[in-house]
Amino acid sequence: MLLANGLPVFAEESRASLTSGDIAILRFLSAAEILETDLWQQYNELGGIQDSEVPGGSGSPAYIKALEVLDGDMPQYIHDNTEDEFTHFTFINAYLTFINAYLVSKGADPVNLDKFRTLPSSKATGAQNIGRLTNLMQLTVDTSYWTKYRSRTKNPDFGDTFPPAVPGLLKGQFPAIPRNNGDLAPAKHIQAIANTAGFHFAFIEQGGTSLYPSLAQRVSNPEVLRILLSIGPTETAHFQTWHDKAGNAPALTDPTNGLVFPDLNSPPFGGEDFQTNLIMPEPTIFLSRKFPPVSIIRPTETQGAAMGAAKALVGTGSGCGPTLIKATRS
Ligand SMILES: [Fe+2]
Ligand SMILES: [Fe+2]
Repeated sequence: MLLANGLPVFAEESRASLTSGDIAILRFLSAAEILETDLWQQYNELGGIQDSEVPGGSGSPAYIKALEVLDGDMPQYIHDNTEDEFTHFTFINAYLTFINAYLVSKGADPVNLDKFRTLPSSKATGAQNIGRLTNLMQLTVDTSYWTKYRSRTKNPDFGDTFPPAVPGLLKGQFPAIPRNNGDLAPAKHIQAIANTAGFHFAFIEQGGTSLYPSLAQRVSNPEVLRILLSIGPTETAHFQTWHDKAGNAPALTDPTNGLVFPDLNSPPFGGEDFQTNLIMPEPTIFLSRKFPPVSIIRPTETQGAAMGAAKALVGTGSGCGPTLIKATRS
């Protein structure tokens, strides 16, 4: 049986029974997606394609040239990832607004973080000068996702830890977009900025790749579960692409700050843990060491998953973790 709006009746009834836990998960994901969009929007203004789908900014030719060293299609991929993130929070917020009408006790309001947009924009030509939720000019990037997805014997859900692919990115704060036009030269400096972005792209998206399956285990309503199971794998599609592109970042040392991007295919790197074409998840332990290794997303432990995501955002040095925590407590 269908209602006038074409939706099956069971969906209408099911929405009326949405639990407070389901609503909290959707509100948390909306906040996380707004922050993701803020990161990607800044990348798109300077390094992507600015058009009617993703407006704002006018591009930085020197930055784009350096990004294209990783792949000639980088501006298109940046554009598409930005548009995807925008649709993630817009959809979840529209859904929250819609179901609010079905609930006896309300609380499924859409999430709006605009009052937290206080961080500065890049001063480089091509960026909009507006308040931001995140800061891409002082990033500490954890590249341990690289070895986490290559390990055949370890899993973060078992408490295992993993070495970073680019140790230098953990030892300071680095720009992933040009801070001003002074960052556009020398060539190795702007390339280091593009390399930092390349590794950060995969960091962002591997976070979403774990977040959705982790939170899906807490969802009660089948339609909310469908939303999580339909958005989550697009994060994985993004991660897979960026994981491949990061491997093309040229080995170099930034002459302005000493940041080193090592050759990941040669000693002391190289081998199964670092080889740049090993971009598909290696099988590893899952649930119990008694079971055979299996190719999986990792981590997917549901306990503490939301706090883990918030901490990961704090760890980027982008200042958006505290925003996320504040926003979802209210
Ligand atoms: Fe997303
Ligand atoms: Fe994403």
